[in-house]
Amino acid sequence: MESGFASGRILIKDIGHLVGFGAKAPGKLSGADMRQLPVIQDGWLALEDGRVIDGGAMADFPGIADWNGLEVLEAAGRCVLPAWVDSHTHLVHAAAREGEFVDRIRGLSYQEIAAKGGGILNSAKALRAMSEDDLFAVSLERMERLMRMGTGAIEIKSGYGLDLESELKMLRVARRLGALDRIPVKTTFLGCHAVPEGWDGPAAYTNYMVKEVLPAVVNEDLADHVDIFCEDGYFGLDETRTLLEAAQLRGLPAKVHVNQFKASGGVALCVEYGAMSVDHLEVLRAEDVAELATGDTIPVALPLCSLFLDLPFTQGRTLVDAGCALAIATDFNPGSAPSGNMHLAAALGSVRMGLEPIEALAAATTNGAAALGIETEVGGLGVGQEASLMVTRPLGTVDEALYAFGDPIAERVLLRGHWVD
Ligand code: NIG
Ligand code: FE
Repeated sequence: MESGFASGRILIKDIGHLVGFGAKAPGKLSGADMRQLPVIQDGWLALEDGRVIDGGAMADFPGIADWNGLEVLEAAGRCVLPAWVDSHTHLVHAAAREGEFVDRIRGLSYQEIAAKGGGILNSAKALRAMSEDDLFAVSLERMERLMRMGTGAIEIKSGYGLDLESELKMLRVARRLGALDRIPVKTTFLGCHAVPEGWDGPAAYTNYMVKEVLPAVVNEDLADHVDIFCEDGYFGLDETRTLLEAAQLRGLPAKVHVNQFKASGGVALCVEYGAMSVDHLEVLRAEDVAELATGDTIPVALPLCSLFLDLPFTQGRTLVDAGCALAIATDFNPGSAPSGNMHLAAALGSVRMGLEPIEALAAATTNGAAALGIETEVGGLGVGQEASLMVTRPLGTVDEALYAFGDPIAERVLLRGHWVD
């Protein structure tokens, strides 16, 4: 697959519904504004050197003045959607954990599997044994698969290393994926994902992560954010505060796993520290919603995890009605969501979280970009944004894109001006 921004010009004409175009990026859309993600019926879009340069309604199409080197695509009524922005993944991991999947089918819970040394610790064992180059190769294959499905920007977490060398190895692999320059890749240091064997509880381990590993991560500029699994049986409010304080001193924003199984005040703590996002929120109390409605912290729902682990779906409708800028991501990881399918995640936003299709699209594109601080670059097709988009199969309306929840919708994917094979 090609890297960097393509040189050349592309014109897409006769687009049935053009989503996300405007004079500027749609940016972060909160509450009722999520329905304002722009849609132009019967539109056109002009791209140059991997970026959007113009567009509008066919009724106002100015014609083609310069045919030189221009690729013209007749969309013949197909929709053009911004590429997905997946703001929460654990894409860098060594191997699948389908054995645990079968254990769950036979009756064990996710937590019971973890207590037996499975789960995150199982992934850590495999990852520590793998060379950086092999880890890069398997991760690249996954990233390319996601790109073929229309994902145009991703976040990647560490958290299966759980010691200095292995956490750095994961983050170096994530940075190498970003350095390929195919799509924007943001990285997150998740050293506090589980307490590995040999440690006397989460407090001592968190101190080690904060004192020894975080400085090394910062030193090599390996992470854009920090994260911690704030959850009963993993890390508590004290450890979360310790990490968020240390990260704040180093200028690193936080994106935190919180309220997956229980709600215990993690949301309020994250809002207090100005976290960029709080992710999961399968369990949500009225006071958590009130906290999120007041701050800038973006709630990120991970409906593929709810589907796969049979957890409650995040109350998307409630969060949007409270005025939040809800985002949707995949959580792609070998334990709780072995899928990077953003179309399915977005569709579940409508099927199970009460979002109207246009709101679910906003959550999976421009608000996902906002959850990574890259909403001027990706997540929409405003003038100046990256030319990263999907040309769908023939669809009657934008709503149909999410109604068709299990079937692929992207006939062609363009990332930074390159057509993806
Ligand atoms: O987001 N909840 C914590 N971490 C991941 C799952 C990790 C795993 O099971 O490997 C998640 O669901
Ligand atoms: Fe996760």
